[in-house]
Amino acid sequence: MALAKEYSSRRVCHGTLGEIEAAMLYLLVRVSKPRRVLEVGALCGYSTRWLLSALARNDYGRLESYDLQNVVDGIISEHRDRWTFTRADVTNLDLGDFDLIFIDALHMNAFAKMYTRRILAPVARATPVVIHDIYNPLMMPLYAPCRRLNASDTAALYDLHMDCFRRLAANWTRAHPGNDFLYGPEQTSGEGQELLAWLARTSRTASPIINFQPYNAPLFALGLRDLYLRLGILNPDCPYNQPAAFFLLRGAGDQSASSDIQYFDPSSINVADAKHAAAKRKKRGRLGSSKAQF
Ligand SMILES: C[S@@+](CC[C@H](N)C(=O)[O-])C[C@H]1O[C@@H](n2cnc3c(N)ncnc32)[C@H](O)[C@@H]1O
Repeated sequence: MALAKEYSSRRVCHGTLGEIEAAMLYLLVRVSKPRRVLEVGALCGYSTRWLLSALARNDYGRLESYDLQNVVDGIISEHRDRWTFTRADVTNLDLGDFDLIFIDALHMNAFAKMYTRRILAPVARATPVVIHDIYNPLMMPLYAPCRRLNASDTAALYDLHMDCFRRLAANWTRAHPGNDFLYGPEQTSGEGQELLAWLARTSRTASPIINFQPYNAPLFALGLRDLYLRLGILNPDCPYNQPAAFFLLRGAGDQSASSDIQYFDPSSINVADAKHAAAKRKKRGRLGSSKAQF
């Protein structure tokens, strides 16, 4: 997609949302129709623009974005009437009540420890949450050698990566007897562990934790990517293997956690059927340009 290319060409814009996750985030906003959406970590506004365009399509709701730096304010030109940007460190803020929470900021244990306690814990009712890049093994120095593996961009590459991660993790554990691998000193990308441990301790998930990256859901991720490519709506250079966690957060003190959102297991999707349905729609001329879809 042209937008992704534009962002990947700006050197400062590292760590944008992957295209599949961006589309899933867009769909989540379209389905859940939030009134107030929180975005922590806007940088150049790639996720911001997906969120805003979904709100605009809903014709309802506002986005409040926070970032330490102000790059995004000069970039966003559309749907500004639905948007507030605040340059601030969210660590020091009381953010209040939101209907959908998107966090893509600092991928470290300490930051996750902060937002689980200060942003997620006070949430009073069932709320969709998306946390981007919670665990990217390739960010860890320990796994740097796995980046050099070569294979075409297919499931085979992810199998090679997984073998490499397992081997290096086993070596590290052997060399550091008695050490906790996940929280060991080499560990720089601890957001995922911190978040998942908090959710497990507090039982605050009211849905499965869903992740669309190819390591976890190869059929879904690669099938969808293939579908996007065929429809001409995916920039093949765009990252799509960054792991975002999608889940429904249970309200504090709420044992029943009801919601209108039906979360599903991505592995249950029949990609062949989805491709077939999309091809039929395209034939009927309903798809139009990619911009019309997203
Ligand atoms: C990976 S980038 C966000 C990318 C963006 N979501 C996108 O899709 O293009 C992470 C951003 O989080 C911001 N950030 C890091 N720590 C923060 C904090 N404590 N408060 C607010 N923003 C923070 C950084 O300044 C950076 O711009």
